[in-house]
Amino acid sequence: MPLKIFVDSWQEKLQYVNNYKQALSNNIFKVISLAAKELQLESYVIGGFVRDYILQRGEHKDIDIVAVGSGIELAKKVSSLLPHKPKVQIFKTYGTAMLRAYDMEVEFVGARKESYSEESRNPEVETGTLEDDQNRRDFTINALALSLNDETYGDLLDPFNGLQDLSAGVIRTPLDPDVTYSDDPLRMLRAIRFASQLQFRIEKDSLQAITRNRNRIKIISRERIVDELNKILLSPKPSVGFSLLHKTGMLGLLLPELTALEGIDEIEGQRHKDNFWHTLEVVDNISENTNDLWLRWAALLHDIGKAPTKKFDENLGWTFHGHEFVGSKMVYKLFKRLKMPLNEKMKFVQKMVYMSSRPIVLSQEVTDSAVRRLIFDAGEDIEDLMTLCEADITTKNPRRYRRYHNNFKVVRQKIKEVEERDHVRNFQPPVSGEEIMETFDLKPSREIGVIKDAIKEAILEGVIPNEYDAAREFMLQKGKEIGLSPK
Ligand code: CTP
Repeated sequence: MPLKIFVDSWQEKLQYVNNYKQALSNNIFKVISLAAKELQLESYVIGGFVRDYILQRGEHKDIDIVAVGSGIELAKKVSSLLPHKPKVQIFKTYGTAMLRAYDMEVEFVGARKESYSEESRNPEVETGTLEDDQNRRDFTINALALSLNDETYGDLLDPFNGLQDLSAGVIRTPLDPDVTYSDDPLRMLRAIRFASQLQFRIEKDSLQAITRNRNRIKIISRERIVDELNKILLSPKPSVGFSLLHKTGMLGLLLPELTALEGIDEIEGQRHKDNFWHTLEVVDNISENTNDLWLRWAALLHDIGKAPTKKFDENLGWTFHGHEFVGSKMVYKLFKRLKMPLNEKMKFVQKMVYMSSRPIVLSQEVTDSAVRRLIFDAGEDIEDLMTLCEADITTKNPRRYRRYHNNFKVVRQKIKEVEERDHVRNFQPPVSGEEIMETFDLKPSREIGVIKDAIKEAILEGVIPNEYDAAREFMLQKGKEIGLSPK
């Protein structure tokens, strides 16, 4: 049913078009065409550029060119014909070459009979025809090619009805899926990523093949896996991709922390929610409000500490005490395992997970000092934290839904007021450590920290305003209390 809805009239019309000269209006194509003619070989644009042009997804800046002959020679010829003679980068092991021109990155490869998988790329393989090459591509929608040859310039070469699959929104492999996926197991993840990015469905045999072959994903480098996971997370509705990962059994191999959240337990008639499906809702919610990859990661991981901390308490029912702390520690292990960056991005995700319940607790009683502490602890990330908490509201009860959102509105308003008045977001103590040393004639020592902390606490608690005079006065008084006198 949704399939038919997806078929927009322009896509149906496109099925009758077989000349795409318009797609080739950038000068680079004319130069490639000329270079290929001089070398007396055929050349074609293939892959993502053609797919995204037809889908009208905006200009695809990476162009893939197939030459029926040497891709490297073609790249060199193209460079020699261009006014700025761009540098040709040659990847000998893969038999490919790349250059930049007219704001585009152009990759050249010779048509081959063998697969394109990085693992098996071998420049020595037998040269093939365009169709041999198309056969060995991942999906019918990525095997569409446009001719750059004089007599057929702009013609679409579509031996597997890729256009039809594009209009119907289907991911299908050109060959038997078991063959295509074993050529390069990363393609299993790519299938799911494209389904999520384009909101397509994966054709049945392909989905079964992914489920069958899922363990082969283990031979793929973690960097390439993470690239695909990031693209799934950045897609309009990431739950499409994560549900497919779950359905094919791949999720348990890649992110077992998430599958551990699945399921509902019941003891003495008390149940907790299924935190896996809840998490996917949270990720979809947040994706409506942010394109920040790391905030989306935070949404995906915000509850992972709930699996190891789950307990049933006679009086309290289901509890997940300390899951935020445990979860933030798990973020580090997960990032490390997947070879993701262990830098400030990871720390941001950890911080979001660690603080993910703070605004909720606070929304029950919004005091000035609690708000000041929240702003102080979250610092510049306060907005992101609020966005995460709002996305976390997945109740299906409309009254509660409204109430929770209203509570957060109150918190946001309070944050604004307190921030305008007290400026604690980038808290810099109004009295510095140097001033404390100078005033009491101290060498670096523990007392300085004690006084500084006391000033900070007094400001956060609202005992004194966040101002110099009040802080200096407080410092003198505190110094006196611990037996110091000004020099
Ligand atoms: N390809 C393939 N198998 C892979 C990777 C790529 O067959 N594992 C082929 C596909 O024809 C693909 C083309 O190489 O269209 C270019 O690959 P890539 O640049 O990785 O992807 P795009 O399809 O261009 O899409 P995107 O830029 O969105 O990743």
